[in-house]
Amino acid sequence: RPLVIAVDGPSGSGKSSVSREVARRLGLEYLDTGAMYRAATWSVVEAGIDLADAAAVAEHVRNLDLTMATDPTAPGVRVAGHDVSAAIRETRISSIVSKVATNLDVRAEMLKRQRDLITAGRNGTHQGCVAEGRDITTVVAPDADVRLLLTASEEARLARRAKELHGSADAASVEATRDQIVRRDSDDSTVSNFEVAADGVMHLDSSALDFEQTVDAVLAAITR
Ligand code: CDP
Repeated sequence: RPLVIAVDGPSGSGKSSVSREVARRLGLEYLDTGAMYRAATWSVVEAGIDLADAAAVAEHVRNLDLTMATDPTAPGVRVAGHDVSAAIRETRISSIVSKVATNLDVRAEMLKRQRDLITAGRNGTHQGCVAEGRDITTVVAPDADVRLLLTASEEARLARRAKELHGSADAASVEATRDQIVRRDSDDSTVSNFEVAADGVMHLDSSALDFEQTVDAVLAAITR
């Protein structure tokens, strides 16, 4: 039976980079479910669909030709064969992704696809998977072998995202990032809010930990 490790957390918690490194060290697949919602959003925009038309958005996503590369050393996202891995990180996508991700029919479609990707190992395709997002421990894989909520203080998350986006965590960069992080947390609050870990989910606060320390703490939680 393939090993399933579920990691959830808010924007800037480090869940993507940490999950990817943990998958690499353990020889598991890595699934970035946020990238799936981002790719769906990219494609909806590309198709010129009105984001307010929930039925049209859902129909588009149900027909989406989406391919996730789950090798942690070379993760990637393709829509109709077109590599969108970089495009889906642009601010124009980050600022609207919550609109698509809070569409319940979109979530139902993604849930199906994410479960298929995570459990592909049941057919012997892979050893297991580290899947990360916002509802993996609670909805997508509540039966995962290890379930972990990775959080960090708002201050720490802002500083990390500012460094990623602007190369610096000075006051101006942090302010420029605040809207993205804080507003998206609130836009996503119907999907998940991370004030308390769900039953049986381990909670790791990485505010005071650097990347290596966080990876080590997650690995320790997994082998315990
Ligand atoms: O890395 P960051 O936290 O900025 O975002 P992400 O993990 O790439 O996720 C982007 C967006 O996808 C989130 O803001 C949510 O709207 C949505 N998402 C979701 O609804 N459910 C998930 N399991 C993962 C992401």
